[in-house]
Order: sequence, then C-alpha cells, then structure tokens
Amino acid sequence: MERKKVTVLSLAARKRRREPITMLTAYDYTGALLVDAAGIDVILIGDSLGMVVMGLNTTIPVTMEEMLHHCRAVARGATYAHLVGDMPFLSYQADASEAVRNAGRFLKEGMVDSVKLEGGREMVETVRAIVAAGIPVMGHIGLTPQSVSKLGGFRTQGKTAAAARRLVDDALALEEAGCYAIVLEAVPGPVAAAISERLRIPTIGIGAGPSCDGQVLVYHDVLGLFDKLQPTFVKEYAQLRGPIVEAFTAYRDDVVAGRFPAEEHTFPMSADELAAFQQSL
Ligand code: KIV
Repeated sequence: MERKKVTVLSLAARKRRREPITMLTAYDYTGALLVDAAGIDVILIGDSLGMVVMGLNTTIPVTMEEMLHHCRAVARGATYAHLVGDMPFLSYQADASEAVRNAGRFLKEGMVDSVKLEGGREMVETVRAIVAAGIPVMGHIGLTPQSVSKLGGFRTQGKTAAAARRLVDDALALEEAGCYAIVLEAVPGPVAAAISERLRIPTIGIGAGPSCDGQVLVYHDVLGLFDKLQPTFVKEYAQLRGPIVEAFTAYRDDVVAGRFPAEEHTFPMSADELAAFQQSL
C-alpha cells in the first residue's frame, strides 16, 4: 500500500476506525530515519531529550533553542511520520501570546507539524490561542514532567476517585479547546479507558494501559540504551547498551593493538606520486 504522510486528519480517522496509533520519540536525523522506516505514525521530539540526550535530571532546564535544533534534525530524517515538537518549560505558561509565538517557531524553524504542551484546564486559553493561529496542539495530562516539583516526583496521577475525575474534566476541556490528541502519562488503566471512551480525539498513552487510542514510548527506553531511569511501564524491545559498549571496546582494543586501521581502511598512493612526494621532503 502506498505510504502517505500522517496528518491530524488521518490520526482522527484512525480513532474512528479503532486502529491503534503508534508514536515514538526521536531526537536526531539518524533516529528519525530509523523510526520512520519502522512505519511509526507520530514522532515526538520530546523535551525528554533533556534527560536522555543532555544528561539532565529533569526536563525543566530545556530551552526553545535546544528543542528547535533537535526538531530540525528530526525533520530532515522523517518523510511520513507526523512530527510533534514538545514545547519546553516556560515557553507557553507565562502568557498566551508568547505561547503562540513560540509554537509558531516550532513550525517555522523546527519544521514540525504540530506542538505538544503539558497541563489541563489551566491551559485552555493558551490552547485556543495557538489553535486559532493555525497550529495543531497535542495536550499532555497525568504525570506532566515539567511540573515534577509540584507533583512531588515522577509519580502516578489520578489514583483517587477525585483526582481521576479531575483528569477526565481536564481531557474534556482540552478537547473542547481544540487539541487534536492528548497524551495520558502514568495514569491508572481504568481512568485512561474512561477518558478514551469519552473523547472524540485520540488519546496516546504512556504508562496508561491498553485502552488508549495509541501508545508512545521514549526511543532510548525501547532500545534499552538508557539504564539510569527505568519506569515499570516501559517495555524494552532490544538491549542495545551491551552490544554498543562491546563494539566500542573492540574498536579501542584494535587501535591499541595496531589492528585498525588495516590496509583496506587506508588510502593508497600511486608509486610515481609517492616517489615524487618523498623526494619533495
Ligand atoms: O518528552 C517526552 O518524551 C514526552 C513523552 C514521554 C510523552 O513527553
């Protein structure tokens, strides 16, 4: 079947047809080529890059410039996936017009198709303003890592009946404000199921059980590259850290032992040119 670029409209149709949506993060050109080649629908250039690429403890210090730099690299590698740029902390919370300008930069300079921002009802006016500017917005509720200090850590949200009800209301408010999809992070399965059932737009779960309309995972987690923080909801589809360290060690050993570079890795020179060169020394 001919592969087409994934759009907000095709994602909406997937929900109507009850066809699961796949989403992964990617942060650079090569990563985007690989994720796109696997037929993944949506690539999120997540601010999780602060942790898995930049080595920070949280996503809070990540800047607009850092996000745009990685978005551009991913955009060069992805042909079909819908690209979502993750708005970093304080690029949209202070006021709606600053949020619109920063969201616009993601499309103009980051070359992505839409933006994602964290928060529920308190973000409704901001979402409306960005959508009114013609920029599609993906919401993100539940565990919102940019509010990790307020939440008291990376912990499951919506565990009490009252907290679960607030999440449903947040999701409905974001849909009403114009979001085209919503990420549900670290919420109990039954809560994610209730939200997914009530919304017309797709829900994308991470640690939210099987009833969401789609699933998202972090690139480094899927490949088993990053062993610093391993949430229980992650499934590793490969354990590449070991083989990569082995390859680097073999390279180091070859260089130290004089086995690399060998003759086939070295550019030759014609005998005449070599003789002339040696004479010139
Ligand atoms: O930044 C990120 O990678 C995310 C996903 C975990 C949804 O927000």
